[in-house]
Order: sequence, then structure tokens, then C-alpha cells
Amino acid sequence: MNGTRTLCLYETQWCIPLFLSLLLVCYVRNSGYAQESGNKMRWPRERISINEGWKFMRYKDEPDHLVYDERPTITNYRENQVADAKPTESNQSTAAATNILKNWILPSANDFIKDPTKHFKRPAGNPGSDFPFVQSNFNDESWETVDLPHDWAINGPFYKEANPEVGGGMGRLPVQGVAWYRKKLNIPSADAGKTIQLQIDGAMSYAMVWLNGNLVGGWPYGYNSFCLDLTPYIQPGGNNQLAIRLDNPNNSSRWYPGAGIYRNVWLIKTNSVHVAQWGTSVQLKRISNYSATLHLAVEIENKSNNAQKIEVRTDLYQQNNEAGTRGKKVIAIPSSTANIDAGSKNNFSFFFNFKNPLLWGPPPLQTPNLYVAVTTLYADGKAIDEYETTFGIRIVQFDPLNGLLVNGQRVRIQGVNQHHDLGALGAAFNLRAAERQLQMLAEMGCNAIRMAHNPPAPELLDLTDRMGFLVIDEIFDCWERGKTPLDFHLIFNDWHEADTRAFVRRDRNHPSIIAWSFGNEVGEQYTNDSGALIAKELHDIVKEEDSTRPATASMNYAKPNMPFPREMDILSLNYQGEGIRDAPAYAHLKGIRTSPLYPAFQKQFPNKLIVSSETASVLSSRGTFLFPVYNGISAPVSDSTGGNSIKQEVSAYELYTAAFGASPDKVFISLDEHPYVAGEFVWSGWDYLGEPTPYYTARSSYCGIIDLAGFKKDRFYLYQSRWIPDLPIAHILPHWTWPDRMGMITPVHVFSSASEAELFVNNKSQGRKRKTAYEYRFRWDSVVYEPGEVKVISYKNGKPWATSMMRTAGKPFALQMDADRTTIAADGKDLSFITVSVVDEKGTVVPVAANKITFQVSGPGDIVATDNGNPADMEPFHSKERNAFSGLALVIMRARPRTAGTITLTASADGLERAMITVKTRYVP
Ligand code: GAL
Repeated sequence: MNGTRTLCLYETQWCIPLFLSLLLVCYVRNSGYAQESGNKMRWPRERISINEGWKFMRYKDEPDHLVYDERPTITNYRENQVADAKPTESNQSTAAATNILKNWILPSANDFIKDPTKHFKRPAGNPGSDFPFVQSNFNDESWETVDLPHDWAINGPFYKEANPEVGGGMGRLPVQGVAWYRKKLNIPSADAGKTIQLQIDGAMSYAMVWLNGNLVGGWPYGYNSFCLDLTPYIQPGGNNQLAIRLDNPNNSSRWYPGAGIYRNVWLIKTNSVHVAQWGTSVQLKRISNYSATLHLAVEIENKSNNAQKIEVRTDLYQQNNEAGTRGKKVIAIPSSTANIDAGSKNNFSFFFNFKNPLLWGPPPLQTPNLYVAVTTLYADGKAIDEYETTFGIRIVQFDPLNGLLVNGQRVRIQGVNQHHDLGALGAAFNLRAAERQLQMLAEMGCNAIRMAHNPPAPELLDLTDRMGFLVIDEIFDCWERGKTPLDFHLIFNDWHEADTRAFVRRDRNHPSIIAWSFGNEVGEQYTNDSGALIAKELHDIVKEEDSTRPATASMNYAKPNMPFPREMDILSLNYQGEGIRDAPAYAHLKGIRTSPLYPAFQKQFPNKLIVSSETASVLSSRGTFLFPVYNGISAPVSDSTGGNSIKQEVSAYELYTAAFGASPDKVFISLDEHPYVAGEFVWSGWDYLGEPTPYYTARSSYCGIIDLAGFKKDRFYLYQSRWIPDLPIAHILPHWTWPDRMGMITPVHVFSSASEAELFVNNKSQGRKRKTAYEYRFRWDSVVYEPGEVKVISYKNGKPWATSMMRTAGKPFALQMDADRTTIAADGKDLSFITVSVVDEKGTVVPVAANKITFQVSGPGDIVATDNGNPADMEPFHSKERNAFSGLALVIMRARPRTAGTITLTASADGLERAMITVKTRYVP
């Protein structure tokens, strides 16, 4: 980077201009999110988890008619079209019949609609008030009792038939339909006069909420958090009946959306004068080697009937990252006092300065330091609200020539895309499962996540803050033009402003977020000026909410000379950078075709940074290798190249891609040839439910670097060797147990950052190879298979680097188990992930083993789910039986709440020695 830009980190000028390749930012968040449950806020604000003890019912047949709106009829929809197919014309619902509740729900958006003249007015009346499920005396004993987060579809069973009701795109799971959740809230009389709000961090979808028979409001988009003010309907001094209706349409998503109230739900009790919803933000204004000057904005809402004189005081603390607790006090910010009129909101503004700021930055070279600002409101000298805002201080520069700079240091984006599901646990958010996903990605050297294509659970952003990931936070997969018949395009016109503002306001506070994305591969790329106009509108909404970060939308079609990319602060390219369908093996395919477009975008927009927001889309089934092996570096999957449509398997030589994709090797070439590109987000980090390209008969994706169960595919080591080049590894593929391939050509590839490597089969050298420029794997493509040992010895810069060896396995002999953690908290949430391997007599994993394994558990714990990472495995996830896939299976165990003991898991399979493992449970009060 050049000297001027380096100086920016330490200069003493106010407000550095945006998008002149520099962004200087600092972010805050409401640290109430920092814990999955529990009330971190001290009196008088309470943030109470109400996840436990809901009653749940999903209609098996014709549902009630309390609909949000009518929906169009679906004709001729083909769900397995390629992901880069052109989206369709918009498809709006028309009818205005009775029982359409939309007009009562729309006012819930008003806090997020800027122009007061556009606010929705609630019509008279109280629809649904006479419906039995919203009455407190309705007997719901026969309904299922569930705890949230809850995904009603994840236990299936999978639709396995030829023309399934829910197709492979949405995971062949019963996500569709209408369901109700009911819970009695005990509200003590002492709560009279308080403001009581319901915060739902995600309900899939079209949530409509009643309290004590009154329709309170709702929120259709299932991925956004929303708050409803229950106060007008609360009856303190007893039980209050909450009833929530969800209506999750089939054919509404290209991937598995989940179903139900699948994230945390909170009751937030405050004084009627309080910090408003997502009401704080901090921006860094000036920084030097010695001190930082920040601006804290606090929005305060007075819901009482009288004007109030309020004093606002904030103290600043270091945040203890590991424990998530407050550390040393840094400063007390001088307070400010003002009158707030009844029924209005006031913004308080504070500039403050403190010495020796610790910066937030991504490991391994930087540390994700966090601070917490504790804001207290006083009325008549008495504390009436306390609100925590955790923030990090960092400078992010988007330099069109040098890529991304964090705190003055160049950071290559080594990122992945992640969908929101947690594999066998479905969409139901679980902190430990999310943490495990991130830990494995970090182990690979991944430093960035694109939240594809919707806002994540807020707790996931707490994790990315703490762990130091860089995040692109994304909101939409479509705008007015739909990709599936009943997706967000149906409600785009009514909801896009509110959803976009709510998304930014909730998340603007996370230091890990470096950019906003307001769209992914939307159909408006194709519609020239009219599409660009919508892009501009969304862009401007994002910037009004947060001017400190760039706003973008990912483009797989829009070209440099089109109007669409002009609206973007940074250029977020999907697949176009490395070229789409441009290699020889793709010549016969129809669809978008482009040569590598990095240079053309750079020429047209020399002042905009380019990042590849989706690369690769390589497909593979872990541990499966098919022959012959393609002799080039990238080919689309077909039955003759890398695929087996009968077994629904794709070869893991990691050369085979989606129709528009490119192998990692091809992507690496394009990135190395165009070093100004900030880096890549691979599609995808983990496999996810749904979108099982190329086999829509399956249930889950093939494109993850890590499979759905959390087992590493071979590709893991290809990325690891590039992203952590100092790590001495040499990973051999394929496995070496091929009884049917005696004497046959069986290519061997090695993933390593070494510069040279020699391969041996039963100690016979197969030749020493040196990687040439733009080569990223070693390959010996004419090795003849014989059982025994295959070994690689690698060298870097002439010195020994890494050696590894693989042995032919014998027959399956025994089961073996390993837990990721052998002590877990008994809080009803913490999990132990147990890997089950089928091994031979010598303890070598049998890579082709597919034995059926049965699990039994004793002690204070339960099996939540099992899996094996095979996208085509249709055994329900909660089954206690699972076939091994490529030698492995997974068991996810949870401790029963408030226990202290030992859980014993036993695995058995016909003809094999069984295995046992114990996991201790740690009592949590
Ligand atoms: C992209 C799309 C992703 C996913 C991916 C599959 O075009 O943006 O959502 O569908 O293809 O390879």
C-alpha cells in the first residue's frame, strides 16, 4: 500500500472521504445479543428468553383462512433449473377477499419507512379475534410441546418419490404449510406501566402475532429480526396468551429455508422511556497512534404520556472476548440531558476520546479486540434504562489496486459463502453448531464469510466479531423478479424498504461486517435502467442507515457497460471474474457465457474495488472417486465426467463443477493473474440443505468444502494449502482401497503448498514433480493401482516440507468414536459432535464402508440427530440408525438440562466390534 494510505490510520484529520478507496469505520452492537439466552441487562431493562415451553400445531389438511394475502397459482415451474437461469417477470398477488390480513400487518413496518406519509395505517377492526387459537381459554393440550428455536420440518420424513410435494431445491422436507405456536406469558402486576416488546429473531415465514385475542402485527420475511410492541394489549397480573401463525409457502426458495420460529425469541421489558430498538451506533471519527475519537448516537424513545427530562450517561469498558464479560473501564463519557416529548424519539449525540485504543482485526496477524459502551438513562436522578453496545474499532480500506486493507494491513479475502442451516439440525439456530462451523472454516485458513443470501441469526455475528471473521451481510436473493414462484418478489414492493432498513439497523453494530449486500444475482441485472433504478433505491436506503460501509449486490450477469454495476460501491462478482462456461469442457453448454471479466470491470471502474463474491461451485461427494479422471483442470459434472446420476454421487477429485462453475485451480489462476481483486468467497464453505445440484433427487448440496455432517472433503486441504501456505501438509487423494482396480490407472493428486513432491506406491517412485506457475496441485495421472502404501514426500524451497502416507484398508472390523468435546454444558443447548468411523483390524478407516450403524444412549443425554454427509441419504436426521458413508457417520448429542453426569453412547453394526464413548454433562443452574 502507498504511504499516504498508511498514514490514514494515524492521521488526525476528521472524516475521511468515502469510497476514495478508504473507509474509516467503527461499529457497535447491542451486546444483549452476545449471549444466546439469559438476561444480561440489569434492572430496569429485562431481556428475557421465552424459548421454552411453546405449544405447536401444523395443519395436516386444509388450514384456516387468516391469510396474509392471496398467492398466485403455480404453473409449469421447474425447480432444478441452473442457478444462473434468468429470473422471471414479477408475479403479483391480486385478490382482495375477506380474511386477508395484510393491511393489519403492514403497519409493523412503519418504524423502518422513512417518509411518514408512506406509513401504513391500521384499518379498523381486529381480524382473527374470534378465532379459537388466539383465545386464552383454547385447550391446546393435544398440541406438541416444543422449545425454540424450532424447525418443524427438519425431522422429515424426506419426500423420496419421483414428483415430490417439496422438491430437492427446498430439501425434500415438509417445510410447507400453516402452523401455530402458542405460549402463555406470565406478566406480574409490577410490570404495569412498562413497555413490553416481543423480539423474534427469525420466523419462517409470514408471522402474524396475536396477544390476548388482539392482532398485534407481524413480519413476512422469515430471515429478518423484528420487534412488536405488546404493551397496548398486555394485561399485567396474570397469564397473557400469545399466539403466532406462520405460513410457509412451498416453491418459495432455491434452498432449504427451514420452517417455524427457528431463532431466539425475547420479551424485552423497559421503562416507557428507553433506548429505542437497535437505537445506538458508534462511528470512529479520528484515530492516531495514541488515541481514538468516536461518535456515539443514542436514540431514546418516550412512550409515556408526559414529556420527560432524561440524562444519558455512558461508560466505556474493554470487552473480555473469551468470556464475553466486561473488562477494564476505559472512560466515563460526559453526560447529556434533554427533554423528550411524550410519544416521540430524540437523538443524543456524544463525541468522546480515549487513549491507546486496541483495534479489532482478523487473526492470525491481528486481534479482534472489542469494547462495550454501557449507556444508562436517568430521570430525576434515578436509573431507568441500561443498554450495552459492544463495538470494535478498525479501519477498513477498499483499495481498487491493493484490495482490502484492515488497519493498514493488506488482508486477502479467503472467504466462503454460508447458507443459514446447520445440517442435520436444520434451520433451528444453535450457538455451538454455528461455532463449530466457523472453527472448522478458520482451521482451513478461511477469514471471511458471505451470509448467503439473507441476514443470519444475530448470535452468528457475535461469533464472527469475537473470532475475527470479515463478513458481507446480505439481505435478498430476489427483488421484483422472482427466482421461484412464491419467493420474496411477491412482497418486494411493500416490504423492501422496511426489510432493508431493519437489516442494517440491527447489524450495523458488528465490527466483523465490512460490507452490505442488498442482492444476489437478481433479475434486475437484465433490465437495464429500470433494474438499476431499483438497485439505486436499495443502495441509498442502505447508505442512509449506515454511510460507513460500502453497499453492493452480487452480479453474475451484469457487464461493465451496463447500468447496474454503476450503482455499486464495490463490485461483487459471481463467477464472472474467472469466466463462465469459457473453458473447453463447457463449450456445449447453454446459458451465460463470458470470458474472464476482471480486467473489463477494472477498466470501466478503476475506482471500485472488485471482490469475487462467489467462486468455484465445485461439486463432490466426500470420499467418492470416479474414473476415468478428467485430464484438464475444470469440467462440468456429467455422467461421463465425474458424475454418477444413478448413485447421485460426484467424484471428489475436485475438478467437477456446476454448469457455470470453475474448479478451485481455475479460480486460483484468475485471482493470481489479477492481484488487485480483493479475494474470493467460495461457493460454498459447508454443504447445506436443498439445492442438490446436479441431482435434484437428493436432499442437500454437493458444493461444500465441508460436507453436511462436518467432515472435510478433499478440497478442504486444497484451500488450506493455499490459505495457510506455512502449514506443512501434503494431502493425498484418492483413498487407496480399490479391490476392483488392480492394474488399472488410478490418478493420484496431492494438495500441498510444497514446491516439489515425490510419490511412491509401495516404495516405488512415481516421479518427482515440481509445481510450475499457476499449478496448485501435484498430479500423477498414470499411476497403476496396486494395494499397499501410497506415500508422498514433499519439499519447499529445496527443504523437506511434509510427508504423508495412506494405506489400503482391510475389511471392516470395528467401530470407533471420537467426540469433538467430551464435557458439555447441561443447558439444553450445548452439543457434542461424535465422529463414528468404520475401521479395519489395524485401526485404518475403511474408506468405502457403508455399514448400517445403530446408536443407543444412556445417561442424562439424547441423540439429537445423525448424519453421514451423503447428499443422497434419505434417512431422517433424528434416526438412531445411520449407514456409514465413505467410512464415517456423525452423531449429535445434547445433555438434558440441569444434569451433572455421564452420557454413554454405544454404536453397533452387524459383524463389527461395537464402540462406546462417554460425554460428561456440566451442571448449569
Ligand atoms: C449461484 C447462486 C447461489 C447458488 C450457487 C450454486 O449462482 O448465487 O445461490 O445457487 O449458484 O452453485
